[in-house]
Amino acid sequence: MKILVIGGGGREHAIIKKLKENPEVTEIVALPGNAGIAKDATCVDIRATDIDGIVEYAKAHPVDFAVVAPDDPLALGCVDRLHALGIPCFGPDAKAARIEASKVFAKDLMKKYNIPTAAYAVFDDPRAALEYVKSAPLPLVVKADGLALGKGVVICFSRQDAESAVVAAMVESVFGKSGRRIVIEEYLEGPEVSVLAFTDGHVVKPMVSSMDHKRAGDNDTGLNTGGMGTIAPNPCYTPEVAKRCMDEIFLPTIRAMNAEGCPFKGCLYFGLMVTKDGPKVIEYNCRFGDPETQVVLPLLKSDLLTVMTAVENGTLADTPVEFEGGAACCVMLASGGYPGKYEKGKVIDLGNAPAMARIYHSGTARNDQGQLVTAGGRVLGVSCTADTLREAIESAYKAAEEVRWEGMFYRKDIGKRAMEIIEEIRNWE
Ligand code: AMP
Ligand code: GLY
Repeated sequence: MKILVIGGGGREHAIIKKLKENPEVTEIVALPGNAGIAKDATCVDIRATDIDGIVEYAKAHPVDFAVVAPDDPLALGCVDRLHALGIPCFGPDAKAARIEASKVFAKDLMKKYNIPTAAYAVFDDPRAALEYVKSAPLPLVVKADGLALGKGVVICFSRQDAESAVVAAMVESVFGKSGRRIVIEEYLEGPEVSVLAFTDGHVVKPMVSSMDHKRAGDNDTGLNTGGMGTIAPNPCYTPEVAKRCMDEIFLPTIRAMNAEGCPFKGCLYFGLMVTKDGPKVIEYNCRFGDPETQVVLPLLKSDLLTVMTAVENGTLADTPVEFEGGAACCVMLASGGYPGKYEKGKVIDLGNAPAMARIYHSGTARNDQGQLVTAGGRVLGVSCTADTLREAIESAYKAAEEVRWEGMFYRKDIGKRAMEIIEEIRNWE
């Protein structure tokens, strides 16, 4: 089977490596892929947002199945266009992708169908938004409506911060069109859990839970990033929380999307907060998370292509989705300066890391001399599985220490909070 994978980051690398485990997969083409993916797939330099280019490629080079991994092409209707060519796909169509592409759509959906989430108000007019923040209870969370590379959320502890966030999004357009409309939300407290779930629009099969580490610095300091590391499973996702999530969030969301005439098929990502009033939705993503995928897929026991095909065919109910019992940790290695300004083109020395861990490439390229170089803010994900979380963390850090380039940095505390929570739970018992 020949498979097309749209995207070119660590998530796509993890998906491709997993797909390759199926002996029926004879060729994978990645658009555009990257220097690491090039070892596992044929990379063709067509951007993931160039939907016409992707469609032209698919017309000229027939494939048996396509996986559209990033949010932008999903929101732009890449799956709709590939379906029109008769290509079976994994991923939601543009209508269903609104669950991530428009925060207003997602919030209104949750309100209408009583899915627990933070209270909110929507604004199209900056004056009305500024008026609202004068008296709304603090802290407040200001969110751009559209896609903003994970940066469109500002948590405001003072009125001045809230005013600045409103002005930045709506007047100064720092998120472009995405911030013309904003959501202002109640601030929720509690541990965060990421749950990726396969759904064919009928049933939901959640994957092993995970914990992202979004801030750039140790102990959750510094700016928000796309994610600096992940662990799985997330100890806050107890069987009781999982049951409540299934009954109060996962199934109601699938039913709500069906009722709205936009059934969701693909990987639905639930960004959850376990508050004192129970689990609530912080955000939905219409795709696999990055770097959640780099810990979740290594633990998947079932064949990924079989599951993806069942999602597309609507037969997920009859298809087992099973995970290993152990744990995983992924440490992201980033370019100095990220998520602010950073330099590219630094030569990477992987040392002995590839023998010690799964190395997923996020932002790498080859220079004119054929050397592996940095090509993005997040560069490599170093991921290890083990019987226990402690061992997975230790192995990932041992492998990370092998890697070098000028300016490289990584968080030193991925999984630390999860280990503390495991200890706390042990002490209660
Ligand atoms: P999002 O892009 O919506 O996932 O938001 C990014 C991060 O901001 C989340 O992972 C949370 O840590 C935080 N966040 C978003 N919404 C809220 C909220 N209502 N209350 C507290 N924290 C939030
Ligand atoms: N790691 C968060 C995301 O993929 O959006």
